Amino acid sequence: MIITCPQCKKQHHIDEKAIPANVKKARCKSCGASFLLAGPAPESAVEQPVASVKDGGPRRISVSLSKGGVGKTTTAVNLAVGLALAGFKVLLVDTDTQGQSSYMLGVTPKAGLTELVMGELRPEEAMIQVRDRLWLLAGGKSLAGVKRLIGRKDFGGELTLAESLTGLDAVFDYVVVDTSPGWDPLTVNILFYVSEILTPVSLEVMSIQGLMEFLKSIASIQKYRPQVALKYILPTFLDMRVKKSVGILERLQELYGNNVCAPIRYNVRLSEAPAYGQSIYEFAPGSPGASDYRELVRKVAGNPKLFR
Ligand SMILES: Nc1ncnc2c1ncn2[C@@H]1O[C@H](COP(=O)(O)OP(=O)(O)OP(=O)(O)O)[C@@H](O)[C@H]1O
Ligand SMILES: [Mg+2]
Repeated sequence: MIITCPQCKKQHHIDEKAIPANVKKARCKSCGASFLLAGPAPESAVEQPVASVKDGGPRRISVSLSKGGVGKTTTAVNLAVGLALAGFKVLLVDTDTQGQSSYMLGVTPKAGLTELVMGELRPEEAMIQVRDRLWLLAGGKSLAGVKRLIGRKDFGGELTLAESLTGLDAVFDYVVVDTSPGWDPLTVNILFYVSEILTPVSLEVMSIQGLMEFLKSIASIQKYRPQVALKYILPTFLDMRVKKSVGILERLQELYGNNVCAPIRYNVRLSEAPAYGQSIYEFAPGSPGASDYRELVRKVAGNPKLFR
């Protein structure tokens, strides 16, 4: 090593191993000045590892509609897995007490979103890696405790989820949130966290009415949080043989134009895959369901070349 005398600037070539560990001072052979040997650089000067934070953080997308059984969980899971397969780093957050995202992915996590929000576990303990580039914060019955926690707060309850997730989500490209049917304090919390909403609309009677109701609820949140918007409408359970199904699809396209994604066809493979704990790409990669969800991934990622 080279030691430079702070007094006369003379450089001395020294064998580092020859300096005894307890020696803190040195004397310059040229000018006789005595000086402290340099210790480790102060912490601020040490290069800190930088997480792969992107400008503006991850895209936060909730898959939501108050109506039940429209394909929310199927969509959240297959969108998240599809984005991960496309090379993105993804966090799937299950905010439903049914906890079906875990089931669909074939895992039984011991902890998840509840433990994170309650401050019982650190993020790295609460989330589990379920596939390459895909992590899960599991839902389940314990989320009832989170709802009680939100209800007990005198103010700021609607920010509970955002406060727990913002920051830890910075290393992800996408956060996909699966939501329960209905409308409760947790739904409001989700809309105070995400900025994009993807709404699956089942192509059956009453579905447009359900969408209209939901849009009103979103508007009531937008008054306080204008950055949240319904970005994608995803028609689900398309069956071309059913006339009313085609009629509803056309009506959605008339009303919402470019926000309407290519529909997901009715495909029995999509209903079979969860029992095997597999995404549609793993269970039936050549099925219409896999093909339709790949198209959704292309639309959300804005890249028509993915999977081609
Ligand atoms: N395109 C499809 N074709 C056939 N079956 C499907 C399709 N999409 C979803 N399913 C099946 O329909 C059922 C309801 O889907 P899913 O659980 O995704 O709906 P959900 O909106 O999350 O329901 P909930 O409101 O209860 O959370 C499931 O059994 C699922 O496997
Ligand atoms: Mg669901």
